Amino acid sequence: MHGADNNQPVMNCDRFGRTINYLRLSVTDRCNLRCSYCMPEQGVPLCSHDEILRYEDLLRIARAAVRLGIEKVRVTGGEPLVRKGLIGFLASLNAIPNLAEVVLTTNGLLLASLAGQLRQAGVGRVNISLDSLEFDRYAKITRGGDLAEVLAGIKAAEKAGLQLKLNMVVMRDINDSEIEAFAELSLDRSWSIRFIEYMPTIRAKAWRERVVPGAEILERLQKKYRIVPLATGRMCGPSRPFRIEGAQGSIGIITPMSNHFCGSCNRIRVTSAGLAKSCLLSEQTVDLKPYLAQDDDLLCQALRQVIGNKVDYHQMADDSFGPASFSMSGIGG
Ligand code: 5AD
Ligand code: SF4
Repeated sequence: MHGADNNQPVMNCDRFGRTINYLRLSVTDRCNLRCSYCMPEQGVPLCSHDEILRYEDLLRIARAAVRLGIEKVRVTGGEPLVRKGLIGFLASLNAIPNLAEVVLTTNGLLLASLAGQLRQAGVGRVNISLDSLEFDRYAKITRGGDLAEVLAGIKAAEKAGLQLKLNMVVMRDINDSEIEAFAELSLDRSWSIRFIEYMPTIRAKAWRERVVPGAEILERLQKKYRIVPLATGRMCGPSRPFRIEGAQGSIGIITPMSNHFCGSCNRIRVTSAGLAKSCLLSEQTVDLKPYLAQDDDLLCQALRQVIGNKVDYHQMADDSFGPASFSMSGIGG
């Protein structure tokens, strides 16, 4: 196990006593969608191909992180499934000793053809970002995405035996009329349906009107169903879990805006260009690239510094905070 035995310093505890055991690792900043809340219509400037880390470098970073106590790696993008060779990379990631879990976040568009291979590479669970169950609305939110492809992907993922979480970013007057329909997907499937408060990550006008607070989402669901709170697990992350009474699956509410969960934050992030970030909203990054030419101890030290830099809380929901200006596609959510 990681952490403190009698002689070892606690490697993955930050200065606020939080245990950092979760790495979000982006393998590409490219995406086959252009979700309106994630990027402007024309897309975002992309890293050049030689800025993107090779898989072997991403693996070195993951190994160093595991040495520091990381137990779970989430592979993200952009859209991770658009990067060639991903399956082999995931298999190598899975082979890292002491790494308990390798999971993936995807928009699901390419899952239909890759779900079986993902399962074979040792991925047990995928999070699928899906913001509408209606074809026109889905195409509008994603600027051209085809819901049929995602639905085929979900089917294939189930067939392959992958556990599924669906992430819906809730936006007032855009897709909030579908909150109940999404929740109902958990009734006779063992899926976890998670509602995420919209965050103003790109400079969107009138963004406050779009935010539907988690408490309101819960209230709406409580009007229709008996909702039972569930216990949170150690690796649960920031989602508050519930179940519709009698349902097979569960519901989660993630409230980065109305109730930031910084106090229990357990994560660091590394972008596909090798920039390590201690907080989604932090401007401070540590460029890991120079350390890739050095030995593993120095790479570990650089990651230690990232953990050491973690701030105690972010100010996104504060009144003084204007909309942020970054695309999730570069950081991986
Ligand atoms: N607000 C909330 N969630 C977002 N995501 C991307 N951009 C935003 C935003 N502005 C989510 C995606 C995906 C995860 C990686 O981050 O929908 O589920
Ligand atoms: Fe949409 Fe995710 Fe791609 Fe952003 S990275 S455009 S949220 S699918």
